[in-house]
Amino acid sequence: MPVLRCSSCGYAYDYREPVWKCNQCGGLLDLEMDFAFTRDWIDRAVPGLWRYHKALPVPLSKAITFQEGMTPLTAFPVDDRAVYLKHDHLFQTGSYKDRGASVLVSHIQTLGIRSVVEDSSGNAGCAIAAYCAKANITCEIFVPEKTAPAKLSQLKMYGALVRKIPGSREETASAVHNAAKDKYYASHCWNAFFFQGTKTFAYEVWEQLGGRVPDVLVLPVGNGTLLLGAYIGFSELFLCGVIQKLPRIIGVQSAACNPLERMFQYPDAEFASTTWQDTLAEGIAIARPVRAKQILQALKDSRGTIVSVSDDEIKAALIKLGKMGLYIEPTGAAAMAALNQAIQFSSKKEIIVIALTGHGLKAFEKLDLILHHRS
Ligand SMILES: Cc1ncc(COP(=O)(O)O)c(C=O)c1O
Ligand SMILES: [Zn+2]
Repeated sequence: MPVLRCSSCGYAYDYREPVWKCNQCGGLLDLEMDFAFTRDWIDRAVPGLWRYHKALPVPLSKAITFQEGMTPLTAFPVDDRAVYLKHDHLFQTGSYKDRGASVLVSHIQTLGIRSVVEDSSGNAGCAIAAYCAKANITCEIFVPEKTAPAKLSQLKMYGALVRKIPGSREETASAVHNAAKDKYYASHCWNAFFFQGTKTFAYEVWEQLGGRVPDVLVLPVGNGTLLLGAYIGFSELFLCGVIQKLPRIIGVQSAACNPLERMFQYPDAEFASTTWQDTLAEGIAIARPVRAKQILQALKDSRGTIVSVSDDEIKAALIKLGKMGLYIEPTGAAAMAALNQAIQFSSKKEIIVIALTGHGLKAFEKLDLILHHRS
């Protein structure tokens, strides 16, 4: 039986208890599942990520799903190097967050919860709102006032109650924590079930590469929902003996807000010393990621690293992607902007996988401004 274990005090909860943080000490909960995954466990008759349902904490019969996942992994050779792009902008709501939302909202439905709160810079909120709409669950989404109009409109279209909070992303987080005192918090950062969905990124890459593991995996990182999910997925495959190594994970931050990079380089650095400006990559501009310790540990365990990219590098990546027929939102192109750094971090024969994580239609205004300034 899976358990939710507190990463601070070790207290274990039955996974069906409606807890999103430790009631004993307020710590983060992680889901522990004991299973022995093998290739035969893949349910090939099931489209999308639910093909790995035997490795998920919700039965397939209870899945809230749009048949999401199994996004394309396409070859993008760079000077004879094996580079692949994982098209995780191709989801129902336009970002990879649907992975986490599908599993988390399915779990919430099995608990019989009918009303939730969530906070987001936009994409996670849209994903939770869409799956709640499908499950007929009421949701209230807290967003920073400056959230892109396309994301706000998307949230409203799904029927979410949108609460715009003035100030920083952190102020939005404190507003939702207040609301979460009497409603279930469907948080993409706190809730362990969200990471059970994002872990399918790893299972897919492994299956799509014919059972191989990329040598280097390049992922944008703010709160780490994709990075930690991918780490959990590859670690499970490793512990089950299905793969013999982990990919070296490169986390990509925005140079305008890079607390994790600083902590990786200077372990004693204080979050409070992090100053940050506006950036094109607002989705990863997280000054105080709640799972920072786990992210840094995952990077170390995988023998990976963390890098930053400037807005100019993101712009150049967006233009390059556009010329390849790919319309990506700025945050979603951060990993592509770190391509040269990934090449330097690898040897010639190694396989590099780069995640594209959000669709360009989400950030039409920003992309239009970039084009305007170029002409
Ligand atoms: C398009 C996109 N990519 C990447 C991320 C980074 O996710 P995380 O903050 O969980 O690391 C986000 C977060 O909102 C996002 O919207
Ligand atoms: Zn605890």
